[in-house]
Amino acid sequence: MNRKKNILKIAIDSPAAAGAGTLARAISKHYNLFYLDTGKIYRLIALYKIKFPKKFNLKFIKEKIKIMNFKDFNNKKLLSDEVGVEASIIAKNKNIRKLIHSFQINFAYNPPKKYNGSCLDGRDITYKIVPDADFKFFITANLKTRAMRRFKELKTLKKSITFGDVLKSIKNRDKSDYNRKISPLKKTKDSMLINTTKLSKRACFLKIKKIIDRKIKT
Ligand code: C5P
Repeated sequence: MNRKKNILKIAIDSPAAAGAGTLARAISKHYNLFYLDTGKIYRLIALYKIKFPKKFNLKFIKEKIKIMNFKDFNNKKLLSDEVGVEASIIAKNKNIRKLIHSFQINFAYNPPKKYNGSCLDGRDITYKIVPDADFKFFITANLKTRAMRRFKELKTLKKSITFGDVLKSIKNRDKSDYNRKISPLKKTKDSMLINTTKLSKRACFLKIKKIIDRKIKT
């Protein structure tokens, strides 16, 4: 695979509902980067598992990845808690991860021409997918804050779920994402820690922008 030179690469890892997606989108827009929310890939495959349980095997997933379209990522069904939970289950499968791996690397290192680079967020981006990223961030917030944000998001989507359910689900997902053997979520030494618990979206964005500008403008 060709790897474009002179592109800006930003890698972000974070636990569920820490605000990484919102931030990554804002950063990507500001620096004209191609943004890939890698969780959406796992969620899409999880949705296939829920929809086609009998057909669900590696060959089937491979075919689906081949024809994967970014429009598929806008499917509102991907945002449900059920799909999130299923995504964290399939994310433990080594072979499924392998299939998704090259898809992500291709976009990280060969973003479409009109962009200045790429920004990926997920769980293993900083050390597995884009280990040579120009900037690495670990974005987090305390559990209750994350659960409240996700709860509000699900409410706007008119999902009937209680705060307690969301809290429990995020707690379980954290446990699984941090402790799994393959590609666990972790903060690498060279990642900058951003805790969004007490920060507004704007304040988080400005904090990251300052870090990036300091380096690219010197
Ligand atoms: O980020 P999001 O909540 O959409 O991710 C859903 C699930 O997909 C996560 O809980 C995690 O288990 C898995 N995932 C992963 N590696 C990534 C992105 C997501 O294992 N790079």
